[in-house]
Amino acid sequence: MNILIAYFSHGGENLIDDRIVDLHGNGNTKQAAKELESQLSALGHKVNLFEIEPLLPYPHSYDECNTRSRQEYQDGSIPLINAGPNGYEAYDIIFLGYPNWYGTIPGPIKAFLRDHATEGKTLVPFVTHGGQIFLYSLDAIKELAPKAKMVEGFAIAAPYINQAPYVIKEWLEVHAELLK
Ligand SMILES: Cc1cc2nc3c(=O)[nH]c(=O)nc-3n(C[C@H](O)[C@H](O)[C@H](O)COP(=O)(O)O)c2cc1C
Repeated sequence: MNILIAYFSHGGENLIDDRIVDLHGNGNTKQAAKELESQLSALGHKVNLFEIEPLLPYPHSYDECNTRSRQEYQDGSIPLINAGPNGYEAYDIIFLGYPNWYGTIPGPIKAFLRDHATEGKTLVPFVTHGGQIFLYSLDAIKELAPKAKMVEGFAIAAPYINQAPYVIKEWLEVHAELLK
């Protein structure tokens, strides 16, 4: 079983519990993705971590990031992203991680799904969020990856990102069959 963890994470200023917090490049989704990689590796799985990066990075500032991402959300525009992971075709399971932005997937995730065939692959979306969990994001993924087998992954609220090891451990225990 070849496993890919592909994720997008902003990692700049964010609004957490009504306070602006600077995540200094170590975004919540990135932390969750790294923890997932570490637990999967410890279980003996072959896994690769891939960061989806917009060619034009989102501004570090919360307000400026909001301005650009809200514009993309409203007009449906999709940003350009980096080239995909080597040997993409060989992956059987793709964990797809993202922050909930405006109740749905951020533009870079749309770009990744548009650019990569998912037919015949198992897609496991996981989200970090400010309270809205997956909201409309799973429907948005289904629309862009209609022929993938979707399995709902885990969700972690931003103020509780330090709980990621426990949430992920439990998810992996419950879904052990999927990874066999
Ligand atoms: C532009 C923007 C829009 C957001 N929209 C939502 C939202 O609609 N619902 C929600 O629950 N959280 C929302 N959030 C909060 C993020 O989903 C949350 O803080 C996430 O953990 C950030 O992950 P990251 O550090 O990996 O980018 C938003 C954050 C940003 C920056």
